[in-house]
Amino acid sequence: MDDRITPRFSAHDHDPVKGIRGQLLTFKADPFLNAPEECYDYFADGLVVMRDGHIIDVGDYSAVAPRHDLSGGLEEYPDCLIMPGFIDCHAHYVQSPMIASYGDTLLEWLNQYTFPMESRFRDKEFADEVARIYFRQLLQNGTTTANVFSTTFASSVDAFFEESERYGTRMISGKVLQDRNLPDSLRDSSAEESVELSERLLRKWHRRGRQLYAVIPRFAPTSTPEQLRLAGELYQRHMDEGVYMHTHLDEAEDEIRWVASLFPVRSSYADVYDHFGLLGPRSVLAHCCVVREDEWNLLHRHGCGVAHCPSSNLFLGDGQFKYWEAKDPKRPLRVGVGTDVGGGTNFSIPRQLGEAYKVAMLQAHSLDALRSFYLATRGGAEVLHLENLIGSLAPGYEADIAVLNLKPTEFAAWRMKFAGNIFDQLFVLMTLGLQSVIRATYVAGCKVYDPILPVPFSYAEQ
Ligand code: GUN
Ligand code: ZN
Repeated sequence: MDDRITPRFSAHDHDPVKGIRGQLLTFKADPFLNAPEECYDYFADGLVVMRDGHIIDVGDYSAVAPRHDLSGGLEEYPDCLIMPGFIDCHAHYVQSPMIASYGDTLLEWLNQYTFPMESRFRDKEFADEVARIYFRQLLQNGTTTANVFSTTFASSVDAFFEESERYGTRMISGKVLQDRNLPDSLRDSSAEESVELSERLLRKWHRRGRQLYAVIPRFAPTSTPEQLRLAGELYQRHMDEGVYMHTHLDEAEDEIRWVASLFPVRSSYADVYDHFGLLGPRSVLAHCCVVREDEWNLLHRHGCGVAHCPSSNLFLGDGQFKYWEAKDPKRPLRVGVGTDVGGGTNFSIPRQLGEAYKVAMLQAHSLDALRSFYLATRGGAEVLHLENLIGSLAPGYEADIAVLNLKPTEFAAWRMKFAGNIFDQLFVLMTLGLQSVIRATYVAGCKVYDPILPVPFSYAEQ
């Protein structure tokens, strides 16, 4: 992607300068690979200054405030923590209507609940309704960027991006390519036509405002070799324009066995994707729970990103993600967090972090709040190769911001009295899995969610 930072609303070049004041935390480097204390900035009384959708200054209130005429206003958030908006590296908005379906393991769950629901997205009105509710869930949970599967139909892609445009969010999606091993009502009728449609949607949506497009073969078992080949060619043709490839990899044992039986000549599941030209720097692989060393090496060589989806992995009884393997300093990968709605059981990134801690503990590793919240923000931006645009609070960055209420309930307020520094407090927050931790969400400098207002959600001002 061209990393040049351009103002979002050229017509608003001289928007008034505005500020947000509160505790402030932002990451500037990867704490899995560097001394953790050098990877973040924390200000007990911080100020973010914004104009034209971008951050123009950040730091300690007493140092930053005198430098600006905050004619656009100053919003103060006592007892709150200002952070970059969360980044959800893997989700299926089309599964919002069947999240929390009592179920089975992955392949049964797909057949029983997922495929019938996704078949309904041929209907644009239904897709619009789901997109509307999905975005409200994102913003209510402080998520400002998500890398999202739609499904087979153009209507499902259009509905998603149209809603994203209304909020002005930076989002990634695309048509899902799937031409075998699923019901006729959901299946692409031909590999050629499906990839042509994907390319038409790419031309329509990629880099339109803040929207970005991904080539999305669902996973190896639901595409014919021909569809994977054409999808790989499409990805390679548009890779330099910042187009993504997004799919699932190595989630569960029975899935991995199925891939081996469908592609017996390939040396591994990851090798299937590599063979068809689907691995590259903007390839995002969801799950990666049961990964062989040769596969990690392959993913590392291509600069791929990985989405760890702990609540989904627990819910579906998949394998367990191993961050220490993914972040092995000999061949580290870019790693972020995904809700994987509707395999995941909620829309909250902080709650995923609480589950990620438990998944690691089951394997005798622990994951502290510092590294967890890095994964949720800058780590996610690195997975998406957007770390120069989003995921941190620094001058030049897009002003996508989550304001966390550190005392959202009576009990939380009381419990926080016994917590030490900001990371101890964040650990309490993610471990209690509290609802309503978001006090406000800003997208490109506009407040789009504020639960205290009579109308909590508002589309961006255009
Ligand atoms: N593998 C292929 N499709 C899916 C899906 O919809 N959810 C999950 N968790 N895994 C998948
Ligand atoms: Zn998924």
